[in-house]
Amino acid sequence: MKRVLSGIQPTGTLHLGNYLGAMKNWIRMQDDYECLFCIVDLHAITVPYNPVELRAHARKTAATYIACGINPEQSTVFIQSTVRAHTELGWILGCHTPLGWLNRMTQFKDKAGKHKESASLGLYAYPVLQAADILIYKATHVPVGEDQKQHIELCRDIAGAFNRAHETPYFPLPEPIIPKISARIMSLRDGTSKMSKSDPSDFSRINLSDSNDDIDLKIRKAKTDPDTIPGDETGLEGRPEARNLLSIYADLAHKDLGQILQEFEGAPFSTFKPKLAELMVETIAPIRDEIARLLEDETYMDQLLSMGSDKANALAEKHIKEIRALAGF
Ligand code: AQP
Repeated sequence: MKRVLSGIQPTGTLHLGNYLGAMKNWIRMQDDYECLFCIVDLHAITVPYNPVELRAHARKTAATYIACGINPEQSTVFIQSTVRAHTELGWILGCHTPLGWLNRMTQFKDKAGKHKESASLGLYAYPVLQAADILIYKATHVPVGEDQKQHIELCRDIAGAFNRAHETPYFPLPEPIIPKISARIMSLRDGTSKMSKSDPSDFSRINLSDSNDDIDLKIRKAKTDPDTIPGDETGLEGRPEARNLLSIYADLAHKDLGQILQEFEGAPFSTFKPKLAELMVETIAPIRDEIARLLEDETYMDQLLSMGSDKANALAEKHIKEIRALAGF
């Protein structure tokens, strides 16, 4: 049985990095795996947040999944906080996780920054809850962007620790599935940092709800360098912004980076950028319009989220009963 679990935090509008790094892969996997896609709102409260915005972002994230091509009849789409077994398993797994393992997590170090003392326990324990999200369904595969690889490795370690402690191979050790291209889409303002919902500059990212004019302007303003486009990848060394834009183009055009470099060899970025913006609009405009349409249809959104939650709860409840028995409750 091949089962997929993945999720995105409803911390803002989803962006091109979430689409190319995660969701595009999810859509491809629906025919070959039993898929569960959740909106991880419990993770979203690990940093300061506003409850009214959280609720709205959770619905918008669900609408974005569907607009991007997730089929809610085929895959299970649900909001994490509607399945209580995630938090119960999170506690049990936390009691099988040495602090030393958590101390190595780079996402906590990045997000807490210099303010470790004021960061929440939730932010520190984030990867344990993420392990529970995956293991409560006994998922075997987790499609994620490159930044989540360390957390999936930790999840495997935690699953192994539980299995050893209770002398049974109860949890499968899940495999990360990371895309070959677009595993890490970078900021449009700085080619060395990841495109992120929480970057204070809206010009750093392409949101899946951006208008055609926004996309055009953001690409025109995207940082590049004065050199022209090289004919092969060696010419991209030390040019992170150039590599990022060309790789995005390649992924959107369903081609290899090498092919794109040959196509544009010698061209200045002023020639390339309008073509990139055009291709981006072709991909994003239908998604953006469908998100808006779905959000208007409140009855349909309520129905699909309630159906997803029922399906996820049925499987999670079956497993948590077995886990409680193994854990001695
Ligand atoms: N820039 C990216 N390139 C490729 N993949 C990405 N992902 C996120 N950013 C990129 C992938 O999207 C999935 C969901 O991520 P998330 O929103 O739950 O958390 P995140 O990785 O912390 O994303 P953000 O945008 O940076 O969110 P905030 O700002 O709220 O922390 C994951 O599979 C991730 O790899």
